[in-house]
Amino acid sequence: MFSESARCVVLVGAQWGDEGKGKITDVIAEQATIVARYQGGANAGHTVEVGDEQFILHLIPSGALYSTVRCLLGNGVVIDPWTLVEEVDMLEGRGIDISHRLGISWRAHLVLPYHKLLDGANEASRGVQIGTTRRGIGPAYRDKVARTGIRVCDLADLSFVRGTIESQCEWTNARLVDYGSDERANATEIMDRLESVAPGLLSNAVDVGEEILSGLSAGGRVLLEGAQGSQLDVDHGTYPFVTSSNTTAGGAAVGVGIGPTLIDEVLGVVKAYTTRVGNGPLPTELKDEAAEHLRTLGGEFGATTGRPRRPGWFDGAVVRHAAAVNGLTALAVTKLDVLDSFEEIQLGVGYELDGDALEGFPPRSQQLDRVCPVYETMPGWMAMTEECRTWDSLPQNARAYLDRIKSVSGVPIRYVSVGSGRRQIVTV
Ligand code: IMP
Repeated sequence: MFSESARCVVLVGAQWGDEGKGKITDVIAEQATIVARYQGGANAGHTVEVGDEQFILHLIPSGALYSTVRCLLGNGVVIDPWTLVEEVDMLEGRGIDISHRLGISWRAHLVLPYHKLLDGANEASRGVQIGTTRRGIGPAYRDKVARTGIRVCDLADLSFVRGTIESQCEWTNARLVDYGSDERANATEIMDRLESVAPGLLSNAVDVGEEILSGLSAGGRVLLEGAQGSQLDVDHGTYPFVTSSNTTAGGAAVGVGIGPTLIDEVLGVVKAYTTRVGNGPLPTELKDEAAEHLRTLGGEFGATTGRPRRPGWFDGAVVRHAAAVNGLTALAVTKLDVLDSFEEIQLGVGYELDGDALEGFPPRSQQLDRVCPVYETMPGWMAMTEECRTWDSLPQNARAYLDRIKSVSGVPIRYVSVGSGRRQIVTV
């Protein structure tokens, strides 16, 4: 739920992604008039369950499941046109009428087939792989910053698009030769495929910032939905093991085209433990059987790639850092129920490096690889929480655990999710 005075809320992942943002967005979106994605692309996999049905959305905002919500993709999103068309068709095939409620920023950049080829080849050529989703995200943002990208609005001028695609295919193919890859990008093929989707994309192209401003002026409520998590932010995350966009709240204003002064609240979504998919540091990582146990109980497999996620204990240092870089005003703690059967739970409250307590959050992944988490051992609650709907109905030890998450992070808790269903939520 939106708090009484909040009109514009940003929802961010406060760990390494997969925190359950789809579910929380779905809960809040009931009261929203607009839900807008502000960064990332089809690398995201937001899972929403309604009754017996499960939806996995990669590009379209998770608010899509409410027929009254206008869904927007901001200029900060990189759009794979064919994935978008597939997702619209999937939703419409399942009875969710989305095409007339979908607006795409005309300033958003496109992810094209050569970006995916480059993503794969870049990864293969790196000494230490990042473990990207291979959805072409990094190369698409690189073209944006290098000023060689193609935007939705450009589709109105296909001869301009053809020229850019031809030169980008030439450039890409030279890189693919350098990387020793046998794959090649084909400009004619890409143009043929693009021509068939261009009219549809253009018919949904809008000025997203303007729409949000008029929605707010008309008394509407706006949710800006982040993808991935704060530790995957290209500036504030565990560089270079990050995605290529600003996942943090600052990216929201830029990524939809409104001023930051319009944002009232920033809700950080955290799992009651931690997971990461892909490579890079994960200080509270669990190994062996304990990891397998948490992975199985939590169903921790990537929604986009199916890769097993790396599980770990809750890391207070990570969430404190997220609180600072996002200006978090509240937390939504998800998947509490996954910890129901643990006799003891470890909660990371800080780090030591070379025997000394570490102040602040280290900027280098090489340092984070070496830190030792400082844990507090908390007693488990050994009781089912999935039917809990109020704070008081949660087991006492679960409340104590959540209270400690709050004090270690320095952020109050607004929601606790106790299952994947829409109604399995405690509002604090
Ligand atoms: P990319 O965004 O595909 O370039 O991948 C960069 C890093 O971000 C890799 O470690 C991915 O596993 C991770 N990543 C990207 N999207 C998500 C997501 O939605 N959830 C979790 N991790 C992600």
